[in-house]
Amino acid sequence: MLDLADAGGVAAACGAWRRDGNSIALVPTMGNLHAGHLALVDRARVLAERVVVSLYVNPTQFGANEDLASYPRTPVEDLAALRAAGVDLVYRPAEAEIYPRGPARAFGVRVPSAYADTLCGTFRPGHFDGVASVVLRLLLQVRPDVAVFGEKDYQQLLVIRRLVADLRLAVDIEGVPVIREPDGLAMSSRNRYLTAAQRRQAPALYRALVAAADALAAGQVPDEVSRRGVETIAAAGLRPQYFEVRGADDLVPAPAAGQALRVLVAAHAGTTRLIDNIAVPPHPRALANGVDVTEN
Ligand code: PAF
Repeated sequence: MLDLADAGGVAAACGAWRRDGNSIALVPTMGNLHAGHLALVDRARVLAERVVVSLYVNPTQFGANEDLASYPRTPVEDLAALRAAGVDLVYRPAEAEIYPRGPARAFGVRVPSAYADTLCGTFRPGHFDGVASVVLRLLLQVRPDVAVFGEKDYQQLLVIRRLVADLRLAVDIEGVPVIREPDGLAMSSRNRYLTAAQRRQAPALYRALVAAADALAAGQVPDEVSRRGVETIAAAGLRPQYFEVRGADDLVPAPAAGQALRVLVAAHAGTTRLIDNIAVPPHPRALANGVDVTEN
């Protein structure tokens, strides 16, 4: 049975579940749910006895020229999907429940530069501060045992893991692999902005990531792999912002030997910004700027 709660209702329901010994999973979302979100819900249902999904388009993670006003809002469809998915509680807060004195006067989290000012953060200043601030508020309100996030927003997932570790919050953070369309395009609420022509171009991102993962596994150096990725995406008609090989755990540009890698990409199709990433298993050697830096 699905309930729609305000902040007081969330506190009451979660308090009662905790007293009954039930574990709680939180799936934070901005709504406009698709199969990627429902995979998070499925994972949450495996991990905990009670599942809470939040639907809140968080203003503090959007830049001045970004799509806050036009971000797709589909609450009726979202509630139907969550009901069918067996969610226990939906938290759809009013702005005052998240930011009682308004977003501009809210206390917030400052994400350290190593995580905030790289990759997506370079192009979206303040974005990760906004994400970390709202996620912290949601975690404090719901107090879940586990919170579930998609690996599609890989940098976001790492920021949240670091936030939780740094503040010693008693919650597990679970990442769920990217859910893709049959042609490889990562599912995203923003895919609906794509024209038919852009939709045909967009899977080039995933193809370039797969090629990059193969090249790294074959021993090609990260700089060369990145350069090729940028070229491939541009040749497909997309406008790349970055195509980078990073350490999977810390996003460092020159990962140490034996560290798992992640290839991450952001590009525009028209005015729509798309992101994606792929895992690469640990490489036996540390490769920095084309030089094998492994110590003998
Ligand atoms: O990934 C999202 O949908 C959002 O960034 C999140 C985690 C719900 C915070 O607003």
